[in-house]
Amino acid sequence: MLKSSIRTIGVMTSGGDAPGMNPGIRAVVRAGLAQGLRVLGVEDGYEGMLHGKFRELGPRDVGGILQRGGTFLRTARSMEMKTPQGQRQAIRNLNNAGIEALVILGGDGSLTGGTMLMQQGVPVVGIPASIDNDIYGTDMCIGVDTALNTIVDAIDKLRDTASSHNRAFIIETMGRACGYLAVRAGIITGAEMVLVPEVETPFEDVVAMVDDAYKRGKAHAIIVVAEGASIRAQELAQKLEDLDLGFDTRVTVLGHVQRGGKPTAFDRYLATRFGVKAVEFIVSGQFGVMTALDGRDIIPVPLQQVISKKQTLSQEALAMARILAR
Ligand code: F6P
Repeated sequence: MLKSSIRTIGVMTSGGDAPGMNPGIRAVVRAGLAQGLRVLGVEDGYEGMLHGKFRELGPRDVGGILQRGGTFLRTARSMEMKTPQGQRQAIRNLNNAGIEALVILGGDGSLTGGTMLMQQGVPVVGIPASIDNDIYGTDMCIGVDTALNTIVDAIDKLRDTASSHNRAFIIETMGRACGYLAVRAGIITGAEMVLVPEVETPFEDVVAMVDDAYKRGKAHAIIVVAEGASIRAQELAQKLEDLDLGFDTRVTVLGHVQRGGKPTAFDRYLATRFGVKAVEFIVSGQFGVMTALDGRDIIPVPLQQVISKKQTLSQEALAMARILAR
């Protein structure tokens, strides 16, 4: 296998943080050092790149982080990086630091930024890290499994109190424009209904479900609403409350608790595999790609493809959520 001449790489996290980013960084550092490379961490994402915030990382710098959520390199979005001047400044900083290739852990926006750097001559390998699981080309992103487990635990707890008070609970999950977390959580917790951005659910259907659940004597009604759905949880709850269908209605917006927490075994292992593979791609001269989970394998998917297509919601999962809620 052809070996590239690269001796120094950078690693950074960008966009919304995701549990598992630390195991991913750790894997890039340890695998890079094992290949005889120097590894520099870019602190504070693209904002840090813009200001030359780099730090050499040795094996001890990534000790004791496997089990920690968040990203010890921190992350930040940067509007300036969307400008040619910003990109030129960032590339000057990378060159001055001697960084010859970059591993970027992040979501859609971060990988788009990586493609821009790639187009200006910076070799980049992307690692999908976003709890939304909205990145095309990979079965799973880092952080999704941990976020899903957080959501499931929260809904299980909310079901206890909902049943004790004979209430309808509207629970809002993250996901930006993707309903993956909401649908999976709905199936796994047996929610009565799931509302997602990808499918328009008439308000009348929600009313009919809540009305029917109450009349059938159900102890509660759990409705999981993805934040990108056409109606937000607070508004839906108010409209149901005004109709006085029998249940009292309450709302819980899970918010950023879905982004934290100790990475699960699945996320730690996925992130480790992605990190090791990213270094392998760099050493073998494969740039402009993203590490992607394809069934049981980690494969390279061209970044251009990743950022130009949208991940679709599983119709099978959506159907399951509906059938099992009856
Ligand atoms: O992309 C991850 C995500 O958590 C989305 O689900 C959510 O809409 C967004 O980030 C929140 O962004 P911020 O952390 O900047 O408020």
